[in-house]
Amino acid sequence: MTQISAAQKPAQTQAADSSKALYGGIPGKSSTRRITVRDLTGAKERGEKWPMLTAYDAMTASVFDEAGIPVLLVGDSMGNCHLGYETTVPVTLDEIALLSAAVVRGTSRALVVGDLPFGSYQEGPVQALRSATRLVKEAGVGAVKLEGGERSLAQTELLVQSGIPVMSHLGLTPQSVNTMGYRVQGRGDEDAHRLLRDAKAAEAAGAFAVVLELVPEELAAEVTRSLHIPTIGIGAGAECDAQVLVWTDMMGLTSGKLPRFVKQYAQLRTVMGDAAKAFAEDVVGGGFPQAEHAFH
Ligand code: KIV
Repeated sequence: MTQISAAQKPAQTQAADSSKALYGGIPGKSSTRRITVRDLTGAKERGEKWPMLTAYDAMTASVFDEAGIPVLLVGDSMGNCHLGYETTVPVTLDEIALLSAAVVRGTSRALVVGDLPFGSYQEGPVQALRSATRLVKEAGVGAVKLEGGERSLAQTELLVQSGIPVMSHLGLTPQSVNTMGYRVQGRGDEDAHRLLRDAKAAEAAGAFAVVLELVPEELAAEVTRSLHIPTIGIGAGAECDAQVLVWTDMMGLTSGKLPRFVKQYAQLRTVMGDAAKAFAEDVVGGGFPQAEHAFH
């Protein structure tokens, strides 16, 4: 029987083993160093897909780090998922800095990306640099994310020139909910061309990756083919180089109706609710504490 060496195996086969892909930065080798943006560029060159999750606290982040998720985003989705706001708009830089620091402390291998919240970079490149520098110095993030392609060009350029890796976010950009609403972006020729232009502008400005949120699959595929940097899809189909989900959505903790692009991998809301009810029943009925929980 002919032996196929690892180097000859199709990229798909190699990528299928998520314990080897990108984990620790060196495929197939265990390492304790953090993933860098260069590792992600290497993954794109190898045709290797990778997962990204959001995280907002040290304990959850440590679970994802141990599970081998190479990139964790401290997203401004914390507004809806963690802080009880209705949108991402009220989230502050202080909140992102506090929770990013927790996620960095809870991890040793993942690249932690801190989101620049609404109002922390729109004034211009200098404001963006001041905000991003806080996240890098105070929280210890390895990169930042900001929304917009051409409209955030000057910000991206200055951050990258200053040594701060930038992840760009295109398509549905939730910080613009008041002008954009929540709907699929890039439908129709004109919008599709604009999105492709935005993606190329982000790459030219030095961004190391581009999030594509709520974009038609065919357009996301074209953007992915057109760029040398990885695309990270959320509601953008299967052709992106990476996929991101908000952790509370994919673990079944979020209440209410979820977007169609979310796949649930657990039902934490039910698990936690049942556990809380069982505890309450035990306390009321005298089932807890018992002898083994007491001190004498
Ligand atoms: O804030 C966030 O979690 C995000 C992801 C949805 C990409 O921007």
